[in-house]
Amino acid sequence: MGPARLKLSEFDRRTLDLSWEWFKNEELRRLTMTPAFTRDQQLEFFRSIPSRKGYLIWSIDLVGWGPIGAAGLKNCRSCIAEYWGYIGPSQFWGCGLGGELMALIERKAISLGLKELELRVYRSNVRALRLYSKRGFVAVEPVDDSGQIRMWKSLVEFHESSHVGLVDENQSVQLERIRALG
Ligand SMILES: CC(C)(COP(=O)(O)OP(=O)(O)OC[C@H]1O[C@@H](n2cnc3c(N)ncnc32)[C@H](O)[C@@H]1OP(=O)(O)O)[C@@H](O)C(=O)NCCC(=O)NCCS
Repeated sequence: MGPARLKLSEFDRRTLDLSWEWFKNEELRRLTMTPAFTRDQQLEFFRSIPSRKGYLIWSIDLVGWGPIGAAGLKNCRSCIAEYWGYIGPSQFWGCGLGGELMALIERKAISLGLKELELRVYRSNVRALRLYSKRGFVAVEPVDDSGQIRMWKSLVEFHESSHVGLVDENQSVQLERIRALG
């Protein structure tokens, strides 16, 4: 395994401003099921992050470059949460960063005490589907007529075998937020 190319960091104003630019790409909006939004709505979303229940968000940073996307966990319940994430600039799609991103997210989830992850993806999003399948996600059900499917993965095996010392200083705060949800 080579040196880490990605890291997750706080989703700050810099990444928010970049994401405003990234989401001008209609394909990114479609792939991520993101409706069109105004700058005011985006700023309102940013202000609401700390008070959102069961919602965690990180900036995806390419080492030596800067933020290239965002990822997070939502609908966090006691042992399961829904993963979402995207790489913003299309020049970074298909460069093999996805596996590293998923590994980082899975480690975060495990360090938060989660045992399962789920996600939604368009059946037509071949790149994402390949990535999720390779990471062990299995399709569990079609979501609706929109072409989305729900995928699911257990984190328990990984949890038991291969992580120690992954809890960073923000994690205890995040853990409290998830625990508060029961
Ligand atoms: C989804 C995403 C995170 C995947 O990360 P990535 O770094 O681009 O993916 P990878 O380069 O690791 O490619 C994943 C797999 O798709 C394959 N792939 C890459 N580009 C492809 C393409 N255009 N068509 C088909 N397969 C493709 C890769 O070969 C790889 O499969 P393999 O491991 O069997 O070789 C990233 O592309 C992204 O954020 N896209 C835009 C938003 C999005 O779709 N988000 C997900 C919403 S659910």
